[in-house]
Amino acid sequence: MHFLQLAAALLTLFLPKLVRSAYAGPHAMTVSWNTYVELDAPTVHFGESKNSLTRKASSNVSITYPSSLTYNNHVRIEGLRADTKYWYLPEGLISNCDLVGPFTFKTPRVIGDMSPYAVALVVDMGTMGPEGLSDTAGTGIAAADILMPGEQNTIQSLTHEIDTFEFLIQPGDFAYADTWLTEVNGGYLNATTSLEGGAKAYESILDDFYDQLTNVTKAVPFMTAPGNHEANCVDGNYSQFCLLHDLGCPLGQSNFTGYINHFRMPSDVANQAPHNFGVGNMWYSYDNGQICFNDTVQARMVHYVSLDMETDYPDYADANYDPIQFGSYLLQQVDFLAADLAAVDRCKTPWIVITGHRQWYSSGTGPCTACQAVFEPLFNEYQIDLYLSGHYHVYERQYPIGLNASIDYNNLDDPSAPWYIINGVGGHYGGLSPFNIADSPYQVFGLSILNATYGWSRLTFHNRTHMTHEFVNSSSNAVLDSATLYKNHTFAHRCNSRATWSNTTFRLE
Ligand SMILES: *[C@@H]1O[C@H](CO)[C@@H](O)[C@H](O)[C@H]1NC(C)=O
Ligand SMILES: *[C@@H]1O[C@H](CO)[C@@H](O)[C@H](O)[C@H]1NC(C)=O
Ligand SMILES: *[C@@H]1O[C@H](CO)[C@@H](O)[C@H](O)[C@H]1NC(C)=O
Ligand SMILES: *[C@@H]1O[C@H](CO)[C@@H](O)[C@H](O)[C@H]1NC(C)=O
Ligand SMILES: *[C@@H]1O[C@H](CO)[C@@H](O)[C@H](O)[C@H]1NC(C)=O
Ligand SMILES: *[C@@H]1O[C@H](CO)[C@@H](O)[C@H](O)[C@H]1NC(C)=O
Ligand SMILES: *[C@@H]1O[C@H](CO)[C@@H](O)[C@H](O)[C@H]1NC(C)=O
Ligand SMILES: *[C@@H]1O[C@H](CO)[C@@H](O)[C@H](O)[C@H]1NC(C)=O
Ligand SMILES: *[C@@H]1O[C@H](CO)[C@@H](O)[C@H](O)[C@H]1NC(C)=O
Ligand SMILES: *[C@@H]1O[C@H](CO)[C@@H](O)[C@H](O)[C@H]1NC(C)=O
Ligand SMILES: *[C@@H]1O[C@H](CO)[C@@H](O)[C@H](O)[C@H]1NC(C)=O
Ligand SMILES: *[C@@H]1O[C@H](CO)[C@@H](O)[C@H](O)[C@H]1NC(C)=O
Repeated sequence: MHFLQLAAALLTLFLPKLVRSAYAGPHAMTVSWNTYVELDAPTVHFGESKNSLTRKASSNVSITYPSSLTYNNHVRIEGLRADTKYWYLPEGLISNCDLVGPFTFKTPRVIGDMSPYAVALVVDMGTMGPEGLSDTAGTGIAAADILMPGEQNTIQSLTHEIDTFEFLIQPGDFAYADTWLTEVNGGYLNATTSLEGGAKAYESILDDFYDQLTNVTKAVPFMTAPGNHEANCVDGNYSQFCLLHDLGCPLGQSNFTGYINHFRMPSDVANQAPHNFGVGNMWYSYDNGQICFNDTVQARMVHYVSLDMETDYPDYADANYDPIQFGSYLLQQVDFLAADLAAVDRCKTPWIVITGHRQWYSSGTGPCTACQAVFEPLFNEYQIDLYLSGHYHVYERQYPIGLNASIDYNNLDDPSAPWYIINGVGGHYGGLSPFNIADSPYQVFGLSILNATYGWSRLTFHNRTHMTHEFVNSSSNAVLDSATLYKNHTFAHRCNSRATWSNTTFRLE
C-alpha cells in the first residue's frame, strides 16, 4: 500500500462519527462522538468563530462494551460564555465527505433575554432507510407503517427545520435496534440469527441511527431519556432468541448498556435543589431560556425534567429488570423529582416541562399506571405545565388533567392541572398504532394509524404566560395541529426556592 493510502486508512480509524452535544449546566457543554479505536485523551477543539478553534478540552472517557463496534468519547467543556454559539471539532477529523466540521452548539441564553425560543421533541424515532423505516418492509408490516417512495422521514424533516428550534429532546426509543430479529423474521433485514450475527445487526442499526441523526445533533444539543427499546436486544420475542442461543442477549446488549455508553446527560449538575443530583442518563433536570419579567428579577424561562419510566419506581414498567436498577433505593428517582420541583422558584422560572417515555391517559393500550401512581401526584402538587411522552404510537393532544383523572375544562385557558401530550409517531420499522378507546374523554386532537403521518413536536415559549405546541408532519414540515397554552403563572406560594427539602416528601401509601 502506498504510504499516503496507508496513512489515510489509519486516520479513518479515528474518524469522528455520530457527533453530538448536550447541556451540562449554565456554562458547560458535553461533546460526544464515536471512533473505531479507543482514544487515550479524547480532545475537542473549539472557539467562537468557525475559523478560529483556539481552545481545547480533553477527557479520559473513551468507552465501549463487548458487542459495540465503536468507542464513545465524551468531553465536558467548562467555562463557556452563556448564550454564545461555539464551533467545535473533535480531534482526528481529517476529511469525510459526509461529515464536514466544525460543528456547533449554543450555550443557554443570558439572563434578561426576552426573545421567544423553541425546542423540538420527538419520541419513538428509529433508524431510517434499509435497516429500518423505508418505503418497503417485510411481512407483517401494515402498508400505513411504511413511507411512500421519496417521502421525507422525520430525521430529514428535523434536519430541514433545524433553524426553527434550539435543541432536540428525545425521551426514549432510539433506533429500535432491538427489532433486528423482527426485521430478519419478516425477510427485510439480511442477518444471521446467530449470537454474533444478531449482535452485529443490533449494533449496526444503532450506529446507523446515530449517524443519520448527526445531521441534527452536530448542530444543536440533544437531550435524552431511556425508553423500553433501550433495555434489551430483543423486541419482546425472547422465546425465539433464547431457543436459539439459550443465553438471552449478548454481553453489552442488555440493561440499557448502549444508551448508557452513548450519552452523558447532566445528572451531576444540581440545577434547583443543592446536592439533588440525578442518576446517569436516566433522570436529571436542566434549565434553558431566561427572562426578565418585572424589570428587576432576572430569571430562567423553562425548567426541564427528564424521567426514567423504565426502572426505579415501584411496580416498574420494564419487567425484565429489578425495580431498583440505577438508584440506590427504590424511591430515589421520586425523591429527586420532589426535591427538584419543590426548589423551583416559579416567580423566576414560570414554566416546568417534564418529559418521559411512557404515558397514562392514552387512548391506546398500556397506560403506565405504575408511573402514574408515583409521578402524577408530584406533577399536580407542583403545578407543572406539560408532560410530553410517547411509547404508544399515536399523536394525541389531551386536556390538562388533574388527580383522579379529572379533566380541567379550562383547557388551555389558565388550567391548574398539567397538560398531557403523547407524540409517539417519530417513526420506525413498523411504527403506528390504532386508538383502542373510541371517543376518549381525554383527547382533544388525535391522529392514529388510520389518519396519521410520522411527525414531531415543536414547543415555542413566547414569554412568561404563553407557550405554543405544534405537531409537525414529517413528510411536508407542515404544522397539522397548533395549540397555545395560557398560564397566569402567579405562584405566590412558590416564589422562593426552598433552601432545604424533605427526602421523604412523597411516600406510597
Ligand atoms: C479520569 O479523569 C478523572 C478526572 O480528571 C479522574 O478522577 C479519573 O481517575 C480518571 N480515570 C482514569 C481511568 O484515568
Ligand atoms: C444475505 O447475506 C449473505 C451473507 O452476506 C449472502 O450470502 C446472501 O446472498 C444474502 N441474501 C440475500 C437475500 O440478500
Ligand atoms: C445529512 O443531510 C444531507 C443533506 O440533507 C444528506 O445528503 C445526507 O445524506 C444526510 N446524512 C445522513 C447520514 O443521513
Ligand atoms: C417469534 O418467535 C417465534 C419462534 O419462537 C417465531 O415463529 C415468530 O415469527 C417470532 N415473531 C416475530 C414477530 O418475530
Ligand atoms: C444494570 O446496571 C446497573 C448500573 O450499572 C447495575 O446496578 C445493575 O445491577 C445492572 N443490572 C443487571 C441486571 O445487570
Ligand atoms: C419583582 O419581583 C420581585 C420578586 O417577586 C418582587 O420582590 C418585586 O417587588 C417585583 N417588582 C415589581 C416592580 O413588581
Ligand atoms: C381521588 O380519589 C380518592 C379515592 O377515591 C380520594 O380519596 C381523593 O380525595 C380524590 N382526590 C381528589 C383530588 O379528588
Ligand atoms: C384520526 O382518526 C381517529 C380514529 O382513529 C379519530 O379519532 C381522529 O379524530 C382522527 N383525527 C382527525 C384529525 O381527523
Ligand atoms: C406573550 O406572548 C403571547 C403570544 O405571542 C402574546 O399574545 C402576549 O401578549 C405576550 N404577553 C406579554 C406580556 O408580552
Ligand atoms: C402529511 O404530508 C404529506 C405530504 O404533503 C401528505 O400527503 C399527508 O396527507 C400529510 N398528513 C396529514 C395527516 O395531513
Ligand atoms: C393573574 O391573575 C391575577 C388574579 O386574577 C391577576 O391579578 C394578574 O394580573 C394575572 N397576571 C397575569 C400575568 O395575567
Ligand atoms: C434519602 O433517603 C434514603 C432512604 O432513607 C437514604 O438512603 C438516602 O441517603 C437519603 N438521601 C439524602 C440525599 O439524604
